[in-house]
Amino acid sequence: MKHNKFYDLCNDVATSIEQAVSGLIGKPEAGVVLRIGADGTPTEKIDETAENAALQVLERDGRSMRFVSEELGEKTIGKEPEFTFVLDPIDGTFNAVHNIPFYCVPIAIGESNLSDIRYGYVKNLVTGDIYIAERGKGAFLNNEPIHVSSRSELSELSVISYSHRPHAVAISNHIARRVRVFGCAALELCYVASGVFDAFIDMRGMLRVTDIAAGKLIVEEAGGMISDGNGELLSTQFDVKKRVNLVASNGKAHDKLLELA
Ligand code: IPD
Ligand code: CA
Repeated sequence: MKHNKFYDLCNDVATSIEQAVSGLIGKPEAGVVLRIGADGTPTEKIDETAENAALQVLERDGRSMRFVSEELGEKTIGKEPEFTFVLDPIDGTFNAVHNIPFYCVPIAIGESNLSDIRYGYVKNLVTGDIYIAERGKGAFLNNEPIHVSSRSELSELSVISYSHRPHAVAISNHIARRVRVFGCAALELCYVASGVFDAFIDMRGMLRVTDIAAGKLIVEEAGGMISDGNGELLSTQFDVKKRVNLVASNGKAHDKLLELA
């Protein structure tokens, strides 16, 4: 398949991160907290190593861009930004530090907020799988088109659900067929896009735009639906301090899930 002009840049960033963190996976030193990052959560050694590797690639690229990233917050590269490069250097830090094989690099290219993303890229750093989506052109896993599932009965659904305490029993194995939590939102959204899971729900008010921007477009381009817990479309600014609730689904079960979320 012919790749979008952002593909090589995203791939170079992900490859560079992968190489930079390879010696840290599963090592206690990877989880040493260096400071509180721009997003208000701790920056661990593996996060900083990954972000620095990404920054080097972006500064060499030559294009001017606004860089929004979980640890440093925001930085302008060059003089007249042509787009915004939204990165979580490592999504699933806890997993990577403890050698739980489920973590990734998610990248979104857009302008200013979650409603104007034009390119999404997620690389699973364990398997090497690459999910991409371009606005209006579909979603792909390793260059093959992917689609959301078609299940609609709650009792048949496989759901990734981060419980919100007052509603902790809302999505349980009594309601859905399977409930799982993997600790890496970007990749969890890709599992909804590829139809493995039917929905992803996170109502804790903790997700950052860097966690979900890429996965949002990938789910939408795979035919799925994304909203907040009230069913409203998301247009949160690319600002790592902001927090989002998210219901992502195959679209068939969205309303039923919103009633429970
Ligand atoms: C985390 C993951 C996880 C979510 C957490 C995030 P991080 O991101 O996306 O799925 O439940 O709220 O903090 O810290 O590994 O980039
Ligand atoms: Ca992160």
